[in-house]
Amino acid sequence: MPENLTVTDNRTGRSYEIPIEDGAVRATAFEQIRESDDAHGLLVYDPAFINTGSCTSRITYIDGDRGILLHRGYPIEQLAEQSTFLETAYLLVHGELPSAAEAAAWEHDITIHTLVHENVKSFMDGFHHDAHPMCMLLSTVGALSTFYPDATKIYDEEQRRISIYRLIAKMPTLAAFAYRHSRGLPYNYPDNDLSFAGNFLSMMFRMVEPRYQAIPEIEHALDVLFILHADHEQNCSTHAMRVVGSSHPDPYSATAAAIAALYGPLHGGANEAVIRMMERIGSVERIPEFVAGVKSGRERLMGFGHRVYKNYDPRATVIKRMADQVLGVTGTSPLLDIAQELERIALEDEYFVSRKLYPNVDFYSGFIYKALGIPVEMFPVLFAIPRTAGWLSQWEESLLDREQKISRPRQVYLGEASRDYRPMDARAVDRPVMVAAG
Ligand code: CMC
Repeated sequence: MPENLTVTDNRTGRSYEIPIEDGAVRATAFEQIRESDDAHGLLVYDPAFINTGSCTSRITYIDGDRGILLHRGYPIEQLAEQSTFLETAYLLVHGELPSAAEAAAWEHDITIHTLVHENVKSFMDGFHHDAHPMCMLLSTVGALSTFYPDATKIYDEEQRRISIYRLIAKMPTLAAFAYRHSRGLPYNYPDNDLSFAGNFLSMMFRMVEPRYQAIPEIEHALDVLFILHADHEQNCSTHAMRVVGSSHPDPYSATAAAIAALYGPLHGGANEAVIRMMERIGSVERIPEFVAGVKSGRERLMGFGHRVYKNYDPRATVIKRMADQVLGVTGTSPLLDIAQELERIALEDEYFVSRKLYPNVDFYSGFIYKALGIPVEMFPVLFAIPRTAGWLSQWEESLLDREQKISRPRQVYLGEASRDYRPMDARAVDRPVMVAAG
């Protein structure tokens, strides 16, 4: 069977053979299709990349219809159950699970980079007391580039390695500093004898005790949440990382852009929005009224729906189980009862069933964070910590991909045709004049 399309342009009657490679056609193959020799080639229009691949990748695979998520071929459920976050981060970056010696070296290399320059602390001191921690994180990660000018040597493998260690290692430190700043508490330095998740909890919550001991179930739950958020192929923030990375700035600047993309309520801000939504619903009795609001378009059920998953998000299955375990240790939450009832009602309702809207990763993750004593503003920050591993592996893959160039989309122009400039007194005056109040 020939691996191509035959496309006939009915304007001209000409036919074109468009090759199919790896289940895709190249948009540039359509450029040859023109109405006349001096016309522009045909453009492929796809706002929001609904059906357009912008890269090839070997890192993460999602089958949204079947609810499958693989990192370098390994199912997310197996990684969540058997791996650690640092091991999964190694897998994403290097493509294989580490041997014992590789894992020890990787852990050492990350751990020795957890401290930040003292001036970073002063930089963070400058933020207003009620600054959103995600904004503190994104600005401080951008500022890190000023401390590591060699990071601009992105085609030097050694420099890339060090930037990867530094970013994965310092992200929990900056995240915890952002939290401490917003609470008016002194910053806690990293404790390199603790695990990745244990150290983060220590930097967040240690008060006057010499050493912070996290509850093992909580430390484990946080590590699993980190695994579940480590990568998710070409989502909005990863795309931002690749697009910004394509103009070849240092990886700190590209990561700051990715954090900015993650900040929005339709992406990493969704679990914060879920908790606020549950608080607003307030009781199980008010769920039908809320669902009616969603169906009439007045509300959106946060934590439901996904561009790719048209089935239960496999991460949500693991998180739902973890939420039960963690709340078993910390004490249950009335909001969780609302969430479970809301999920039950939504999964039986024609509106959600016909649109294939299922719980995504964010529907239950907020309950775990809340049970750990983490305030809602910190939720997207907790997403950014592990996703840094995914962003960096995607950034490096993109840099080494010989087909990639600076990212520069095209547009379909719908504006005015060329026209002559008119002096002010010759312009139309039939538009309403807007005057600012006050
Ligand atoms: N509540 C109610 N209706 C929804 C929802 C929702 N959460 N999500 C989608 N729909 C409806 C939407 O109104 C549309 O209906 P219609 O066909 O009648 O116009 C239909 O479902 C298709 O939706 P869409 O907006 O075309 O879907 P999308 O692929 O553009 O949006 C999404 C995906 C995740 C932005 C969206 O589902 C959403 O806003 N969900 C809530 C926010 C959320 O939970 N985000 C976290 C995503 S997972 C974490 C991550 O990877 O970042």
